Amino acid sequence: MASWLGLLALTAVAQAQNGGSAMLRFGCSNIVIDRVDPLVDPGKIPSPHVHQIIGGDAFNASMPVTDIANLAKCTSCTFEEDFSNYWTANVYFKARNGTYKRVPIMVNDAIGAANGGMTVYYSSPGKGQTTAFKPGFRMFSGDAMRRTPTNLGRRTQSCFRCYDGPNFQGNVNSPCFDSVRDTEGFPTKPCPGGWRSSVIFPICWDGKHLDSPNHVDHVAHPVDGPASFTSMGGKCPASHPVKIPQIHLEIVWDTSKFNNKADWPADGSQPFVLSHGDTTGYGQHGDYVFGWKGDVLQKAMDNACFATNCKQLKSQNFNKANACTVKTVVKENNDGWLDKLPGM
Ligand SMILES: *[C@@H]1O[C@H](CO)[C@@H](O)[C@H](O)[C@H]1NC(C)=O
Ligand SMILES: *[C@@H]1O[C@H](CO)[C@@H](O)[C@H](O)[C@H]1NC(C)=O
Repeated sequence: MASWLGLLALTAVAQAQNGGSAMLRFGCSNIVIDRVDPLVDPGKIPSPHVHQIIGGDAFNASMPVTDIANLAKCTSCTFEEDFSNYWTANVYFKARNGTYKRVPIMVNDAIGAANGGMTVYYSSPGKGQTTAFKPGFRMFSGDAMRRTPTNLGRRTQSCFRCYDGPNFQGNVNSPCFDSVRDTEGFPTKPCPGGWRSSVIFPICWDGKHLDSPNHVDHVAHPVDGPASFTSMGGKCPASHPVKIPQIHLEIVWDTSKFNNKADWPADGSQPFVLSHGDTTGYGQHGDYVFGWKGDVLQKAMDNACFATNCKQLKSQNFNKANACTVKTVVKENNDGWLDKLPGM
């Protein structure tokens, strides 16, 4: 298995003998694509831009700060005790004639029959080294207003992988670590195999607040910067001393349907745009509301759980996960050729 996942598996096996790093990797289908955002715009219907949302069915525009595992009845994730919600902006294609079309979401490799959705990771360097989130915990990762690179290289918090061919090309490098295929902004050329978005969340917490006014200040990246997995051993700043599991989201976009250069802008620029109007990709961001049942996430982090192998967690198949949905609140056309981005 010559993939970064394979290498991580060997590392995990090696480390299991001395405390054991953990890395859950599992799929969650979309529960809805809608214009609501209980974190940044609570109660606002419609919210300013479109999101794709995965996880538990307690999701709504004004979900309360409480233990949502007790409100949800089902989840679109294959770990059936994960009633958390995760959401990101959607990607649209803008044709040369000025109309927009939403880019479909592909199923990630080795994840199975998800209905669109994302691949979710939770990582921890070893037993007792991370503190799982408390009920009511929420956070935001990224900066929706950003339109310039951070130039953090491999330590970026958000990136895109351009697949030159089908089947994800073996995924030989960790997210954001591939110096040829990974970019902090949108790929600038057509990608025959589509794109993968990666959004990496902060791993340091102030230990006190479940949220903060901008949904970012109660958490922080490690002092050396973000980065997938490898930053887990990093040092947290004194202001945010409590290490939390690293959440990392992956979404694979089937941009290959839009590779006809005749439809691309005449000036040679790339034609894709995030649903909040960002044509650069630097403003890619993710939202999280914690909702695992009881203390099962802590148990998974402390017992070297790897991918979907975890004795401490209960699993369900995708038939059950895909049956968990939430009703669309904002009824608007989101799927044909659109004159403008919804809300823009
Ligand atoms: C969201 O759900 C909560 C409880 O589950 C409920 O009290 C609230 O009214 C709902 N809000 C909306 C906008 O549906
Ligand atoms: C705009 O371009 C797209 C892509 O070529 C095409 O499918 C669509 O029909 C066009 N719409 C109009 C109004 O010309």
